[in-house]
This record gives sequence, structure tokens and C-alpha cells, in this order.
Amino acid sequence: SDPVSFYGERQAGIVTPAQDRLHFVSFDVITKKREELVELLQEWTAAAARMTQGKDAGTFGAVGGAPEAPPDDTGEALGLPASGLTLTIGFGPSLFDDRFGLAAKKPAALADLPKFPGEDLKPEISGGDICIQACAHDPQVAVHAIRNLARIGFGRVSIRWSQLGFGRTSSTSRSQATPRNLFGFKDGTNNLKLEDAALLKDQLWVAPGDGPAWMAGGSYMVTRKIRMNIETWDRTSLVEQEEIFGRDKGEGAPMGKKREFDVIDFAAKKPDGTPVIPMDSHVRLAHPSTHGNAHLLRRGYNYVEGSDGLGRLDAGLFFIAYQRDPHKQYVPIQMELARKDKLNEYIKHISSGLFACPPGLRDAGDYWGRALF
Ligand code: HEM
Repeated sequence: SDPVSFYGERQAGIVTPAQDRLHFVSFDVITKKREELVELLQEWTAAAARMTQGKDAGTFGAVGGAPEAPPDDTGEALGLPASGLTLTIGFGPSLFDDRFGLAAKKPAALADLPKFPGEDLKPEISGGDICIQACAHDPQVAVHAIRNLARIGFGRVSIRWSQLGFGRTSSTSRSQATPRNLFGFKDGTNNLKLEDAALLKDQLWVAPGDGPAWMAGGSYMVTRKIRMNIETWDRTSLVEQEEIFGRDKGEGAPMGKKREFDVIDFAAKKPDGTPVIPMDSHVRLAHPSTHGNAHLLRRGYNYVEGSDGLGRLDAGLFFIAYQRDPHKQYVPIQMELARKDKLNEYIKHISSGLFACPPGLRDAGDYWGRALF
């Protein structure tokens, strides 16, 4: 596939049709110097512009530099195409403490998420000052990109946590078939998509006047690592699985309907008077009609990290959602799910992240975070 443009009004990797693979990284900034942070962002931007076009991270490349010096590219993507690589940056709440004089530029939308019932968050895999989401069709390309950004950041940032994802669990364009998550259900049917221009303007992109000017045209990202209890799920009957989501497993149609994209009828009743779509089903609780028309652009990935030593797969969903204001979108939806979703018997949220993703870059003279500094 052709390289995805690195420049534009928006950052790539949000409405870009979701690629198959993810390597996500969250950094802590360790330098105390504002100039060093700015320099790093400039160096990162130059490397990202090159790598997303299928080139080496540095101008000399893996083998073209002085033999006495470490190469300015690590080499494992030599010969591989761009593979749809996108690199999307976000700034976390902790970057806006007094270290870099950014406190006055902190958006209200970056206020910490509340504690949700049932979550079991591990601080060492949560939060962070800066995140970079690398998505590509080839895992080697995504990993190469993050590895080189981490290498360039040596001494100025350190990796706080990172996450690999192997299968998209969402569609972000109507041109894509809906993939499946590890519970075997189509995931991403009712999602904000590239083609929904009016909804994207209203629900995805930060508008001028929403907060500080540097975020106008950007979007807020929420990440949640959600462990899925695969073995318990696999012992659950098909009918119960379908009632938990409110959709059928084969086609992905709303219960009581035939086709995947049929409109959900929440008012429909069975002959015995009970709702066709159960009150505690995931799609009913997450649906915009339950939350004053709050939508999300979900862009998550499946993960499996071997097994847990207790005979179970260490597996789940690395959930990523973009939106105009997390406190009006992710938070009320998650609060409802955390309290009532039948799915909770099978899942556990173990990490959380919140990041402000600024708008796209104009051209090669621009850099990640320019409007912040
Ligand atoms: C819909 C799975 C967590 C928000 C769906 C659907 C599935 C699914 C199968 C139906 C297909 C679709 O419309 O995409 C899961 C699994 C989860 C999970 C397995 C955890 C492991 C979450 C979380 C949120 C969320 C944490 C947000 C707080 C939504 C929304 C919809 C949805 C907004 C669309 C509902 C609609 O408008 O019909 N999810 N989900 N999901 N999910 Fe989740």
C-alpha cells in the first residue's frame, strides 16, 4: 500500500483506516530542560516524517554513515515498504506540571479520569508524559519506528510502558470489513468513521474555543488495557454471549435484526414483554442514545502476551478511543459500562492513559508540539 501522508490538517492514525498492527509507547520525560525537550520533538518529527514514507530514521541510514559511529537507523526495516505506517503523538496530563512551564497551557479536557468501579489499574503501565501510537500493516515496521524514536530519545525520555497489538478491533472507514475481537464478535460496527464528516466535526475534533488554541483541530485519546478472561468466556453458551453484547455472533446483527448494519431497535420486545436487546447488554449501555449523543472513535487492538503461569492466556483488548472531550464522552460511557455491563464478569481494566493529540503538521518546517512551546 502507498505511504500515508505525514502532513495535513489532522494527524494521521486517527481516521486513517485502521491498520492491522500496533506498537504503542508511553514515555516519561527525564530531561529537566525545556530546550532539550523541544529539540527532541524536532528530531522525532524529522525521523517520523522519514519513517512513515518508508525511509530510514536518519539521513545516513542503517549502513550509509561513518563506520566508527552507531548507525542513525537500526536496520530491521531495510527493504520493507512503508506498510501504511502512521505515527501519532499525544501529550499526557503530567507533561503540564511546572517542569516545562506548560501549566497554563493544560486543557481542562486533560483533567485526570475519575476512578471507575471494578478497575485494577497498574501505575507502571498507565499514564505517561508523551505517547506515540505506531500503526502499520507490518509489525516489524511499527516496532522499528518506536524503537528508533526511543533510541533518538535516549537521555531525554525513558520508556514508561509500551504495548503491542496484533489485530485491529475496529473499523474506522466504511471501506473496511469489521474485524473481530478475542471474544469472537465483530467489533467496530457502530463506530465513528472517516466518512461521517458532520459527526467527526461534532464528536471527534477539538473546535476553536473548546480550550487552549494549540489543541484546536486535534483530538483526545483514551487508552485502556483490558484483560479478557478468555477461558471463562469460552465456557459460556452462545446465547449468553450474544445477550451480553446485544448482537449475534455470526453476522454481528443487532438482536432481532438480520444484517450487521441494521439499525438497533432498543424498543423491541419479545413475546413475553422483555426487551429484545437486554438492558445490561454492551451495545445498549454504550450506545450514543444512552449518553446524550456521545460517540467515540474506537481504534483498539487485540493483544496476547503469552500465558499467565496459571494455565490461562494473558490476553485482551488494548482499547484506544479518540474524541473531542473525554469527560463528556469516554467518562460517562465507561461509568455506565463499569456499573452495569454484563461483560464485566469477563474483563478487567488494568491500565489507563489520557493524551492530548494536537492537529496535524503543515510541512517540513513544522514539528510535533510547536504550538505548545
Ligand atoms: C460496541 C466489544 C469495551 C464502547 C461494541 C461491540 C462489541 C464490543 C463486540 C459491538 C459491535 C460494534 O458496534 O462495534 C467490546 C469488548 C470490550 C469493549 C470485548 C472490552 C474488552 C468497551 C469500552 C468502551 C466501549 C471500554 C467505552 C467506554 C463501545 C461503543 C460501542 C461498542 C461506544 C458502540 C455501541 C453502539 O453505538 O451500538 N463493543 N467493547 N467498549 N463498544 Fe465495546
